[in-house]
Order: sequence, then structure tokens, then C-alpha cells
Amino acid sequence: MFSPDTINRFESAQTPFYYYDLQLLKQTLNACSEAAGKYGFQVHYAMKANFNQRILEIIKDAGLGADCVSGNEVNKAIETGFSPDKVVFAGVGKSDREITEALNHEIFCFNAESVQELEVINTLAAKLGKRARIALRINPNVDAHTHHNITTGLEENKFGINQWELPACAEVLSRSANLWLEGIHFHVGSQITDLNVFKSLCIKVNEIKAWFEERGFNLNSLNVGGGLGIDYYQPDENAIVDFTKYFEIFNQFLERKQAQTVHFELGRALVAQCGNLISRVLYVKKGIKKNFLILDAGMTELMRPALYQAYHKIENITGRHNASRPVIKYDVVGPICESTDCFGKEVELAESERGDLIAIRSAGAYGEVMASGYNLRDRVVSLYSE
Ligand code: LLP
Repeated sequence: MFSPDTINRFESAQTPFYYYDLQLLKQTLNACSEAAGKYGFQVHYAMKANFNQRILEIIKDAGLGADCVSGNEVNKAIETGFSPDKVVFAGVGKSDREITEALNHEIFCFNAESVQELEVINTLAAKLGKRARIALRINPNVDAHTHHNITTGLEENKFGINQWELPACAEVLSRSANLWLEGIHFHVGSQITDLNVFKSLCIKVNEIKAWFEERGFNLNSLNVGGGLGIDYYQPDENAIVDFTKYFEIFNQFLERKQAQTVHFELGRALVAQCGNLISRVLYVKKGIKKNFLILDAGMTELMRPALYQAYHKIENITGRHNASRPVIKYDVVGPICESTDCFGKEVELAESERGDLIAIRSAGAYGEVMASGYNLRDRVVSLYSE
């Protein structure tokens, strides 16, 4: 929660802004590294979740690698100081320029998503006289039991190589002198809170791993992606996810040889809870059926509710309100000219008025990075607690 001093600081700041609790970020990273370190697991930060420079630097200092999904992310990771041999590069549509730049950076591994991509990487690597390390991103057809729009591991999704294409991959790999099969890669979806999903994933990985090993391919690494969900409903009570339980599942169910390294690509679980979108009430509109709280932040600053009907806890944090205020239900909306520009419907809040500060919680992942300039809005700024 926010201390009175923090709220005083907010009072004099220009809203809206992202507020990042860097202490919480560091504690989260420690908890993750400790739990992963127990089994020698290697964690790459999925920087698509938040590539704010301060955040990236703290994550780099904590010793994590980087999981990138564009050439610009690869470049930014390396400029920030992530070691190239800890950088992985995924994405269904890597351009020739992006592949070439990543080859020049000598990154750890390309997570290749199609047979055609393998051929292209081989050709580009040959031009540079290099050998590209490849992890095949395989679609395991495992249901992540999460929001439809953030599921990636089903055959209906565009991601990864389907299992019936594995013989074709094996054939390309065998005859491509500029490719080196490093391992296999999976990612089934995001905001996964049912940990059984990861158990099912392990079982699938074991099967596919065996398929390759039976055919004489030696796999150095197994990359199981990210997707660990957080508690959007109780951000204070569960500020740090249970990394111990998460990594234990992989230790228990993933079959691996001693020399095989296991890699993770966590985004949300590392950064979501340290970020909050702080906004001010511009207007209160009382209706017959509904009351609207109109904020100075909208879907241009935090897109998740508009895009996925995602829940974020909303709080009125203005200090001057005491507990005696009646609780009222509001539809909390932004100023953008779209009906989906709504942060929550029928949200119970202490009776609110123009000028009150509103915190939208758990917004550190897929918040600031998905901001847009729609309606020619100002770029959202950030504040930090050290
Ligand atoms: N690895 C791959 C290959 C991915 O596609 C993703 C996320 C991750 C790792 C990291 O997943 P995480 O640990 O953060 O769940 N914008 C959506 C989420 C999109 C996730 C995309 N891929 C949202 O706001 O919920």
C-alpha cells in the first residue's frame, strides 16, 4: 500500500503516471533467483512485459537473461548490458534485418517458430559465416486455462511449430550446416494461475524431448517459457508470487539429463505488482442507473481492461477521505473516445470527487509498454520509489 508520504508526493505530481516500487521489484527478483537457483534453472526476463530502462537495469543487475521478441528488444537488451549469451530471441515474424543483427550480436539462441524460418536463418547465417543456435519453438497443444486472447500453446494459435512438422524440422536441421540445434522451446500462455498447466507442459516436453533423442539429436537446453500468473485481486497480500512452488513443479516433473540446462522466460510474475497507474478523477457523472468516475488516465495508458476485459484493482487513495464516507458503485472510465475505455464496472469505492487520486494496481506488466498515442495523448511518464 501507499504510505502517507508517498500519497503526498503523488498530490504534487502531474497525473497520470506509472509509479514503480523498485524495492518490491528487487525483492521479487531475489525470491525468483533464490527459488530458481536451487535447481540451477536459468531465468530470462521477458522484456516485452516492461522495457522501462530503470526496470531493465535492475533486472540485468540481478543476473537474469533477456527474452526478446523483436530486433529492437535484442538491441536494447544488449545496450542495457545483458550478456549476449543470455539473450533468446522469439517471435513468429522475425525479419531478415532482425535475424542478421541478432546473429552479429552472437545471441544465445533463436527460438525458431516455423520450418521456413529455419531455412531463412540458415541462409542468413551462411552469408555471415556463422552458425546460429536454434531452439525449436514447439506448439505442445496444452490448454493454458487462461484468457482466450493470451493463450498461445494450442494448435489453433499462430505460435510455434506443430508436432506433425517435427520430421520436416529434423530434416532441415540435418542438412543445414549453419544451424545448430541447441534445444526445444515452449510457451503455452500468460497469466496462468492453475499450476497443473505447467505439470501438463512438463509431460509434453518429456515426450517431445524423447522424440528428438531417439533420432540422435542431443538437446543441450529445454526452455519452458513463461506464463506464471499473479494475484490481481489481492496485490498487497500476494505481492510476490510463490516461485518456490512454481519451480518445484518443473524440478519434479521435467525429465532432464545432468548436462541439460532448463530455461524460463518470465515477464508478468517479475514486474506486474511493482507498478501502479496513478490517475486523478476529472469528473463525477451521476446517472440514473450508473455513476461514472471519469479519470485522466485511459486505455491509452493501460490497455489491458479494454483489450482483454482484464481486472485491475482500483482504489481511491486520497488521504483526506476518512472511513466514514459512504461506499458507492462507479463505472471507472477514461477520457478516450471509445466505449471500451473502461477500467472497471460497478467498482465499489469510497464516495469520490474531482481531484481525488485513483490507483490502478498491478499495472507493471503489459501496462506502460502497451501505451499508445491514440487521440494524440501525451506519453505517460514514470515515478519511482527507490
Ligand atoms: N515467452 C513467450 C514466448 C511469450 O510469448 C511470453 C508472453 C512470455 C514468455 C512471457 O509471458 P509472461 O511470463 O509475462 O506471462 N499483453 C498480454 C500478455 C501477452 C503475453 C505475450 N507473451 C496481457 O496484458 O495480459
